[in-house]
Amino acid sequence: MHWLTKGALSAALAWASLSLPALADGNIADGQAKSSSCAACHGATGKASNALYPNLAGQNEAYLALALHGYKNGGRTGGQAGVMQAFTAGLSDQDISDLSAFYASQKP
Ligand code: HEC
Repeated sequence: MHWLTKGALSAALAWASLSLPALADGNIADGQAKSSSCAACHGATGKASNALYPNLAGQNEAYLALALHGYKNGGRTGGQAGVMQAFTAGLSDQDISDLSAFYASQKP
C-alpha cells in the first residue's frame, strides 16, 4: 500500500515540476509576433489550414506548452511529431510560454 501512495506522490511531484516552467508568464503579443513560422500550418489565429494539422485556437495554455516542450525534448514522438520537432528545436522556454499564451487566447 505504501509503495502505491509513494509512487502516486512522486508522480504528482514530477508532473508538477514538469508543468511549472510551462506556466512561466506567457505574453500574448510576443507570442503572436513569434507565431509567423507556425501560421502556414496552424493558421494566423490557430485554426489549421489543412485537416491534417491540429487547431490550436482556444486550447489550454498549459497543455500547449507541455506539447511544445515534449516535441522539443524528444519526449513526444509518433504520428507527425517529426514535423513539430523541427519547428520547436529553436524555441526557448519563453518562446514556448508566449506561443502557448497566444494560441490559448484565440477564439476556437
Ligand atoms: C509544416 C507544418 C507545421 C508547422 C510550420 C508547425 N506545425 Fe505544429 N503541428 C503540425 C503537425 C502536423 C502537428 C501534429 C504532430 C503530431 O502528430 O504530434 C502539430 C502539432 C502541434 C501542437 C500540438 C497540438 C496538440 O493538439 O497536441 C502544437 C502545440 C503545435 N503544433 C504548435 C506549433 C507552433 C507553436 C509552431 C511554430 C513554432 C508550429 N506548430 C509549426 C504542423 C506544423
